[in-house]
Amino acid sequence: MVAHRVSMAPSILSADFTRLGDAVALCEAAGAEWIHVDVMDGHFVPNLTIGPPVVKAVKHIAGLPLDVHLMIANPDETVRWYLDAGADLVTVHAEACRDLPAVLREIRTAGAKAGVSIKPGTPVDTVSSVIGELDVVLVMSVEPGFGGQAFMSESLSRIALIRDMAAAAGSDLVIEVDGGIDESTAPLVVASGARMLVAGNAVFGRADPVAALRAIRAAGERVLSHAT
Ligand code: DX5
Ligand code: ZN
Repeated sequence: MVAHRVSMAPSILSADFTRLGDAVALCEAAGAEWIHVDVMDGHFVPNLTIGPPVVKAVKHIAGLPLDVHLMIANPDETVRWYLDAGADLVTVHAEACRDLPAVLREIRTAGAKAGVSIKPGTPVDTVSSVIGELDVVLVMSVEPGFGGQAFMSESLSRIALIRDMAAAAGSDLVIEVDGGIDESTAPLVVASGARMLVAGNAVFGRADPVAALRAIRAAGERVLSHAT
């Protein structure tokens, strides 16, 4: 298996929900590292998507690990459901938690990887107090809630700040970027320090999703080969 320097986490939010099995098979055929699952509760974000039963069903058929992005209020109460459903990485939004360190501890104690996400308006400093407890920081490059939105270029400096903050703390956390990632924005976020890319519309919205995923990864990795 090829070890890629940029990991891909296709978001099945943009897939056909009547054919999730096909979407998972497609992610696997394309060589993705993760399957990104967007959980929205109609409170923390206006949209309402899927919950633990669907996460469990996807886990049942997926050979790839599940990257579960919880856009829900008060995950303190329900994060356990997603861990039980088989999430391999659970990312929560910092401001949605009553006790962020406790939620991260619960995730890690269950044997999953723990991530914190910051929305475009969330101060980057929010992650500094828990940086030692994180496997992933998920930088949102759109307002969370919907697929297919335009990439916000202000997120590039935020990615770079997280990269510097992690280096200063001696953390090897991975920076994941979510929202508006395609062949043209992938090089920008990778150059700023991202190594895990979520892409929904730019994969599942294309005629050839496998080729699209590979092209996004290649565009990101091209930046790294220029740099070395
Ligand atoms: C947005 C979700 C994203 C979304 C990305 O709130 O967190 O994961 O599916 O979709 P695209 O790649 O279409 O912006
Ligand atoms: Zn997401």
